[in-house]
Amino acid sequence: MKRSALIVMILLAGATHVSTAAENHLNAQQQLGRRLFEQSCGVCHTRPTLISGMYGPELSKLNLGGQEELLRTFISNGTARMPGFKYTYNPDEIAAIAAYIKTLPPGTQDIPTARAPTKAPTPAQ
Ligand code: HEC
Repeated sequence: MKRSALIVMILLAGATHVSTAAENHLNAQQQLGRRLFEQSCGVCHTRPTLISGMYGPELSKLNLGGQEELLRTFISNGTARMPGFKYTYNPDEIAAIAAYIKTLPPGTQDIPTARAPTKAPTPAQ
């Protein structure tokens, strides 16, 4: 009992350390973008569990040619399948989200070792 509590504490300490280290290289604008991204975009653009599918495409600095201007317009207006965020976030916040996306290396949202089975139904189909 005591031992398992200790293990949990060690794991928690490790997890906290990792997330702090990941945030360290982000400037204030990118950190704001990261918070808003996790709040509003992650539900469709990240893989919440190892075996679940993603509704939207993986996002990284490669999307829309990595052009912040295009990212901001896309995020503001959305598409038929993605809501626009111009009434949710002000231009500074949208710029922060675009700046954060530009820090993401390809492959971070989609976990290649845990692909969903090809025949499993996904919300995108
Ligand atoms: C309801 C699900 C959903 C949410 C929430 C969502 N998206 Fe999307 N997003 C999509 C889908 C689906 C696409 C693919 C385009 C399409 O099919 O219309 C997309 C496409 C994109 C693209 C273009 C990718 C490309 O290269 O074509 C960007 C950039 C993007 N989303 C950013 C965001 C950001 C930033 C947020 C949060 C502020 C967000 N999305 C929230 C579903 C979503």
